[in-house]
Amino acid sequence: MLLPGILTVILLAELVASSDGNFTFNGFSGANLTLNGLAAITSEGLLRLTNDTQQVIGHAFYPFQLPFGKPPSFSTTFVFAIKPSFPHTSGHGIAFALSPSTELRGSLPSQHLGLFTDTSSARDHIVAVELDTVKNVEFKDINNNHVGIDVNGLVSVNSTPAAYFDTKEGVVKELQLISGEPMQVWVDYSGEDMRFDVAVAPLSESKPKTPLVSSRINLSSVISDKMYVGFSSSTGAATGSHYILGWSFSLDGDAPPLDLTVLPRLPGSPKKKSVVLAISLPVAAVLLLVVATVIVVVFLRRRRKLAELLEDWEHEFGPHRFHYKDLYRATKGFDDETLLGAGGFGRVYRGVLSKSKIEIAVKKISHESRQGMREFISEIVSMGRLRHRNLVQLLGYCRRRGELLLVYDYMANGSLDRFLFDGNQPPLNWSQRFHIIKGVAAGLLYLHEGWEQVVIHRDIKAGNVLLDSELNGKLGDFGLARLYDHGTNSQTTHIVGTLGYLAPELSRTGKATTHTDVYAFGAFLLEVASGKRPLQLDAPGLVDFVLECWKMSTILEARDPKLGDEYAAKEMELVLQLGLLCSHPDPMARPSMKQVVQILEGDASLPTVSADGMISCLSARQYDESFDHLVLSYPSSSAATHVLRSSPFFSGTR
Ligand SMILES: *[C@@H]1O[C@H](CO)[C@@H](O)[C@H](O)[C@H]1NC(C)=O
Ligand SMILES: *[C@@H]1O[C@H](CO)[C@@H](O)[C@H](O)[C@H]1NC(C)=O
Ligand SMILES: *[C@@H]1O[C@H](CO)[C@@H](O)[C@H](O)[C@H]1NC(C)=O
Ligand SMILES: *[C@@H]1O[C@H](CO)[C@@H](O)[C@H](O)[C@H]1NC(C)=O
Repeated sequence: MLLPGILTVILLAELVASSDGNFTFNGFSGANLTLNGLAAITSEGLLRLTNDTQQVIGHAFYPFQLPFGKPPSFSTTFVFAIKPSFPHTSGHGIAFALSPSTELRGSLPSQHLGLFTDTSSARDHIVAVELDTVKNVEFKDINNNHVGIDVNGLVSVNSTPAAYFDTKEGVVKELQLISGEPMQVWVDYSGEDMRFDVAVAPLSESKPKTPLVSSRINLSSVISDKMYVGFSSSTGAATGSHYILGWSFSLDGDAPPLDLTVLPRLPGSPKKKSVVLAISLPVAAVLLLVVATVIVVVFLRRRRKLAELLEDWEHEFGPHRFHYKDLYRATKGFDDETLLGAGGFGRVYRGVLSKSKIEIAVKKISHESRQGMREFISEIVSMGRLRHRNLVQLLGYCRRRGELLLVYDYMANGSLDRFLFDGNQPPLNWSQRFHIIKGVAAGLLYLHEGWEQVVIHRDIKAGNVLLDSELNGKLGDFGLARLYDHGTNSQTTHIVGTLGYLAPELSRTGKATTHTDVYAFGAFLLEVASGKRPLQLDAPGLVDFVLECWKMSTILEARDPKLGDEYAAKEMELVLQLGLLCSHPDPMARPSMKQVVQILEGDASLPTVSADGMISCLSARQYDESFDHLVLSYPSSSAATHVLRSSPFFSGTR
């Protein structure tokens, strides 16, 4: 409480101390002025002379008489603003005045500007500069927007329409006194050369070199040695608010300059901009623009990156459709870190769906042709309805340009292939293998017979058997081979599958059947039991090898050496013999999957087939030659090698 009190005293002391005739008001907060009529100092520090009331007067005078010299001289500058109640018409204007009294007894509003009476004369000793906003013929006003010098009356000694010299453009510009904009006025009188100069300009301009109104007047007898200085204003039928924002005065030399940056704000005008803001705002705007552009570019690029292909016909598959965005996020942008493997159909990524936290495997298949995509999707989606504990569950799909993404349940232990042939994995024991074999058989039986339509897998092999966390075998990739069936023309036929698992009749008919699946399953049985791939470079085929052992009555010698003696002999023999039976060159001699499952479960016995009988069939070898003209690629690693074969030889056979 004490400190503001002291400050106020110091401030006021400073203001009033200069009764010698030097003072400056950059705003009027706390100023000691003598106010009359409607004049008031607003809370913002504006000196308001009138408001919108009609026929009123406002006076504001510096509270001390000033000791004018002989001859008298003075210099003053002030900033004013006139806000009309209605555009284009306003109250009568503002006058800066030198007066022997602060009361101006009998003065009138309206055209009298609150300064003069009806009968003003030389006895009044009033000198004024009028900023006149109403044209009054009675006083020979030149227009309704002029600046004039008045001595003892309202008929100006000299007056000029309000204007200023724009220093930037080098032209004289009209000033609208009632524009509501703050403007600065400079008034200088030198008694020595009797020169009275007045200039006006907007705040952006400094004091003009040439005055707007100039007169040679001897004021020695008008200005007495003790005079008050201040402002007067009035309204008439038309009204407006007359404001003074800042004011400085000097009896001796130029009026002290005003600090325009600290002047109070007019009502309704935008917050004062500091110089810093004036510079930083455009900079900030440019920065904002740059940032906005960057955001838009990033957004567009991201949108293109995450763009997917969605056609009308796919709406029926809506629930099976994944957003590419979600798959992209789930796989950390298909980062190599999440890559599970690359197979014949494409790369497989591991991911976690961010919302449901479900672990998924995403198979990314590049597929340029859009032909047949609709059929394929509808098949894939309908296969998504296949549910069996020995089938890898298809969760859904997503399509992009040239790319199809299939989303599956994630299988923690990856493909069986790795366990059989990758030396880094601990070998599976026999009971684990037998469990897997029975599972895969059950899954395949479900595909063949358990559903409303027969589903041919077409690519059964260890590489397509996936193991969950409990080492249950699940068939994956079923139906995928169909992708390569669609969109082919009659000139070419694709045989899809993996060499070593392709039934001999495929080369003749090109037609996948449940029998060709059983053939591949046979190769798979031999593969799991023997730990060998069905075809190996520089070695006899696996079927031949097992058959040879059987013929020598040492079929158990065909088992995976990694098993050692830890195996159930009966089961091993059963699996090897069943494998051979399924590999029968005659499709009709192979068992069905139903029989296979019964045999494996011990519900049926193996049909009696002698090694010799099998050999005599196999020795015909007709199928080996029929694949000879293919460019053979051997399944060499865990990445399955798919034969996508085109052969005009087979055209028209399907
Ligand atoms: C003008 O000021 C007077 C005196 O303070 C007040 O009575 C009147 O309501 C004001 N008029 C307007 C329009 O603000
Ligand atoms: C204000 O000015 C008057 C003279 O008109 C004077 O009497 C008064 O003391 C001044 N007030 C302050 C606070 O200086
Ligand atoms: C101005 O007027 C006064 C008295 O009215 C007179 O004494 C003085 O000489 C005049 N000055 C000039 C420069 O004419
Ligand atoms: C008044 O101010 C002017 C400069 O604006 C200065 O030259 C002069 O000395 C001051 N006079 C007094 C009495 O302070």
